[in-house]
Amino acid sequence: MDKKIEIFDTTLRDGEQVPGCKLNTSEKIEIALQLELLGVDIIEAGFPVSSPGDFQSVMEIGKALSTPVVCALSRAVKKDIEIAAQALKTARRPRIHTGIGTSDVHIRYKFNSTPEKIMERAVQAVKYAKSFVEEVEFYAEDAGRTDNEFLAHICQEVIKSGASVLNIPDTTGYCLPEEYGEKIRYLKENVDGIHKAVISTHCHNDLGMASANSLAGVINGAQQVECTINGLGERAGNTALEEIVMIFRQHRSLGFYTAIKPELLCPTSWLISECTKMPVQANKAIVGANAFAHSSGIHQDGLIKKRETYEIISPEEVGMKGSSIILTARSGRSALAYRCQKIGYSLSKKHLDTLYPIFLEYADQKKEILDKDLITILKTTNFASLTNLQTHGKQSI
Ligand code: KIV
Ligand code: ZN
Repeated sequence: MDKKIEIFDTTLRDGEQVPGCKLNTSEKIEIALQLELLGVDIIEAGFPVSSPGDFQSVMEIGKALSTPVVCALSRAVKKDIEIAAQALKTARRPRIHTGIGTSDVHIRYKFNSTPEKIMERAVQAVKYAKSFVEEVEFYAEDAGRTDNEFLAHICQEVIKSGASVLNIPDTTGYCLPEEYGEKIRYLKENVDGIHKAVISTHCHNDLGMASANSLAGVINGAQQVECTINGLGERAGNTALEEIVMIFRQHRSLGFYTAIKPELLCPTSWLISECTKMPVQANKAIVGANAFAHSSGIHQDGLIKKRETYEIISPEEVGMKGSSIILTARSGRSALAYRCQKIGYSLSKKHLDTLYPIFLEYADQKKEILDKDLITILKTTNFASLTNLQTHGKQSI
């Protein structure tokens, strides 16, 4: 039977950490409601101790949402946990996400501490969080570079203390997919009581492997993926929600599914981009402006004959209007004929042969030939009947 993978969206917390992405409370509520519509299972609404504004946003999001779990971040610090618990008072399904750095470099340089003391802080933080809410998620920051044996030990102790979700972040985006997958498998096989907890991935994209690492984690037993819309997040960002969801949909034989409504992926991406003022790169997988745009003649010809030759996803499935054939100097005759047809002109082979070299001359001077340029080109070819026929819808010249 297929396995449901929980989608934990951290656009409003890790995503909002991007310089210049600051969102106000009403924007955060609008985004949270859209994420709820999208079908996200858990929404990390913020880090309440960080500012009064963030505290307020977590409270308001808790009030506004009915279905998803609302999660608040805290360090393994008493005051953080108390404030997270207070901010979550309005939430129907509250979760505290608490944790601490577990790699040697974090223990030694960030905390000037020892593994034993870090273990003790982790256990105390989980116990304290558990005194406020039923659901406690523990994060082992920099788990990607943490020794597996120590990681397994700390996971075991926090499960005993009440954590029901274990977040294994590749905080610095360092791991290779096999290495990250192996880490998750190691925890599955070596942590007593692991069946009582859900393992979560949280992968950063410093080497462009965030989605691949999350997938490796799931294949090896993780049941929750932490991600953001458009892959927003610290430095190079987090796993992009739209990518991991579409990987599961495209590779159904893997046996994973999510509750995400794919047709809302692009509209959600546009909303986040607008609110955060962060443009989405044109070649971004799934939601980029060029994700379904075809510009080389060979690809255009194939696509016109059969969409599946060059598209593995139909644009409508993810809420994009449709594929586009971009006319450039690399386009061939079939793309030119197709685009002329789209604006109402059905060209004979003879006319196409005459028009094509003229089109190429124009295209060599312009980056892209738009519909209005196409009309100009058609007119300059001096087909006597053109102007008349233009007023009658679908034309033949
Ligand atoms: O990347 C990370 O380790 C984090 C934790 C705070 C969960 O964002
Ligand atoms: Zn992170």
